[in-house]
Amino acid sequence: MNRRDFARKVTALSLATSPLARILGANDRIRMGFIGVGGMGTADLQYFLRTGQVDVVAIADPYGPHLEAAVGLTSGQARGYKDFRQVLDLKDIDAVAIATPDHWHAIPTIMACEAGKDVFVEKPLSHTLHEGRAIVQAAQKHDRVVQVGTQQRSAAHFQKAVELLRSGKIGRVTSVETWLLSRRPVSGFGNPPDTDPPQSLDWDLWLGPAPYHVYNPNRCIQNFRWFWDYSNGMLTDWGVHLIDVVHWAMGVEAPRTVSFAGGKYVVQDNTETPDTFDVTYEYPASAASGKEFLLRFHCRLTNDHADQGSEPWHRILWNRWHASGEPGRLHLVAGAAGIEGQSDPIGGGRFGQPLVAALCSRAEFSRLRPVAPEAEFGR
Ligand SMILES: NC(=O)c1ccc[n+]([C@@H]2O[C@H](COP(=O)([O-])OP(=O)(O)OC[C@H]3O[C@@H](n4cnc5c(N)ncnc54)[C@H](O)[C@@H]3O)[C@@H](O)[C@H]2O)c1
Repeated sequence: MNRRDFARKVTALSLATSPLARILGANDRIRMGFIGVGGMGTADLQYFLRTGQVDVVAIADPYGPHLEAAVGLTSGQARGYKDFRQVLDLKDIDAVAIATPDHWHAIPTIMACEAGKDVFVEKPLSHTLHEGRAIVQAAQKHDRVVQVGTQQRSAAHFQKAVELLRSGKIGRVTSVETWLLSRRPVSGFGNPPDTDPPQSLDWDLWLGPAPYHVYNPNRCIQNFRWFWDYSNGMLTDWGVHLIDVVHWAMGVEAPRTVSFAGGKYVVQDNTETPDTFDVTYEYPASAASGKEFLLRFHCRLTNDHADQGSEPWHRILWNRWHASGEPGRLHLVAGAAGIEGQSDPIGGGRFGQPLVAALCSRAEFSRLRPVAPEAEFGR
C-alpha cells in the first residue's frame, strides 16, 4: 500500500459511521509497528486491534514486562524488540504508533517519516516547540500522515460543544476557562532513593535524548510526566487535551501572549513540575470571538474545592466558555456539553460508547478514582 492509499483510508476511517470492514477490503490491511507499550501504548494497541483492520507486525519497548505483555496481546504474532530502530528498519510496516514518554516522541516520529512510515503519535506531539516544528517539517518533507492522539475530537459531546459555540447561541465569546482539579495526597509519590535500574529495563535507552540521571523509580514508568527532563507536567499532559478543544472550538491555532504563575507549593515528594498554577493565554481575534479573547487554565492538584468544583465531576476538567452579554455560558464537562440553564445537554452517558474505534477514534473510561462514574472521562 502506498502512503496516498493510507492517507485516504485514515480519512475514510475518521469519517466512518459504518463498520470499518465496509471501508477496507479483506486483503487491504494496515501493517503496523508499536513503539512504547506502557499504559497508553497498550490501550492504543488494543484499540487498533479492535478495528480488525490492522496487522501488528512488531513492537518495541526497553522495559521487558511491558514488551512481553504487549506481544502477548497479539497472540505472539508480533515480533518484539527492545530498540525501536529495529522496528523502523522493517520494510513491511506501513505505519507506527508511538506512545513513549514525551521526550521520546520527536526522534522516532521523524525517523519513521524518513523510513516512509505514517505515524500515530500520542499527545503531546513533542517535548519542546523546536521538536514540534521539526516533526511538522519531516512530515511535509517525506509526505507522511502524522496524527496526534487527542481523542476528544471523536466524542459526541465535544463535537456538540463546538457546534453550539460556533452557532452563535451563546453570543460572542470573550473568555474561556478550563481547569484540572484533583485531590491527590500531599505526600505525592514519595521520595524513593536513587538505585540501580531493574534488570528488565534498559535505562540508557529509556533516557535516550534526556540528560543522564541515575535511575529513580519515580522518574520512569508512568511518573516521568512529573519531571522536566521528560515532560512538562500537567501543563502539557492534560493541557494538551484541554487547550486543543478550545483551539478547535474557537478556530485559533496559537495564543499571542502567555503568562504563567505557579509552582510546586504543596506536594512533598521528589517530583519537579508544578502542582498549583494559573496560565492566561491571550488569543488574536477569531470568528467565534469577533475580537481577541482570553483563555485561563488553572490547575490545583491537591485541592478540588476551587470555585468551579461545586459539582463532583468538575474536578476532572473541562471547559466553560463565557459570552459577552446574552445569552450566557456554555459548559463542557466530563461526558456532557450544554448551555447553562438549558436542559438538553448532549452526552452525560458513558463517553465513548457510540464511537467507532478507528485510527483516530479512541475513547476510554478514566482510570482515576470513580467519583461520578457516568460523567468521568479518561485522558
Ligand atoms: N491520549 C491520551 O489520552 C493519553 C493518555 C495517557 C498517556 N498519553 C501519552 O502516552 C505517552 C506514554 O504515556 P504512558 O502513561 O503510557 O507512560 P508509560 O510509562 O506507562 O509508558 C511508556 C512506555 O514507553 C516505553 N519507552 C521508553 N522509551 C522508549 C523507547 N525509546 N522506545 C520504545 N519504548 C520506550 C517505556 O518503557 C514504557 O513502557 C505519553 O506521551 C503520554 O502523554 C496519552
